[in-house]
Amino acid sequence: MLDAAAKTDFPIPTGVFAQTVTEVQHYTDSLFRFRMTRPDTFRFRSGEFVMIGLPNAEKPVFRAYSVASPNWDEELEFYSIKVPGGPLTEHLQKIKEGDTVLMRKKPTGTLVNDALLPGKRLWMFSTGTGFAPFASLIRDPETYEKFEEVIVTHTCREVAELAYSQELVASVKDDPLCGEFAGGLHLYATVTREDFPFKGRITDLMASGKVFDDLGVPPIHPETDRGMICGSMAMLKDTKATLEGFGLVEGSNSKPDTFVVERAFVD
Ligand code: A2P
Repeated sequence: MLDAAAKTDFPIPTGVFAQTVTEVQHYTDSLFRFRMTRPDTFRFRSGEFVMIGLPNAEKPVFRAYSVASPNWDEELEFYSIKVPGGPLTEHLQKIKEGDTVLMRKKPTGTLVNDALLPGKRLWMFSTGTGFAPFASLIRDPETYEKFEEVIVTHTCREVAELAYSQELVASVKDDPLCGEFAGGLHLYATVTREDFPFKGRITDLMASGKVFDDLGVPPIHPETDRGMICGSMAMLKDTKATLEGFGLVEGSNSKPDTFVVERAFVD
């Protein structure tokens, strides 16, 4: 088995960017984030994803990763799970500052402001690492130009898995570009398998109305509310059904509507 993170004596495949890791932070045994240099020519819309790989094979394995940093940031940030034996994350979790990470050149994705009709309140529903695209969008001033209020829901099995979203949402108030909008940003964090003040799946909390009572907002309505969903296949399916129950309709880049779903991570 190759020690992939350290091994860089494979040629860089053509048509991909080779970038340098600038920072790595581990949150739990299974979660970490890293930052890397951004190619001068790389443009993306906040909320999009790219394909990431390592220079550890003739034909490296690439996986879809949401860019977690906003589009104005001079570096790129990613938030990742560590899957034991996972073809990419087994190696990616060992990267250190100075290592090389590969990135395909074309960003894409549906969790972008352009895919939603204007509205008053934007809901971002996430579980686990599904928070990543929202880490980008809540640091983009355009999100607050389009929506008065932004509510990010993040549900994890355990409390420790909420560290990244809690730190990041708290840091928005000190952000040079988005700090002035931080009053309109709310994190609704819930845990399903440990004690925590807010417990349960977001789908159940919407069905019971508890999330709306807790936040002091009216139930989701197609005239005022918009949604973005990112999580596991089962979570996407159930959250989509819940939003449709409130009268929202799935949109896309080519046909904006009242909610959007990212399916890139669940194949
Ligand atoms: P639960 O602990 O009740 O399964 P996972 O790691 O399996 O992707 O789960 C991450 C979080 O998403 C967990 O808190 C999990 O709750 C929750 N979750 C899993 N499936 C769904 C679903 N179908 N709808 C809403 N939340 C879900």
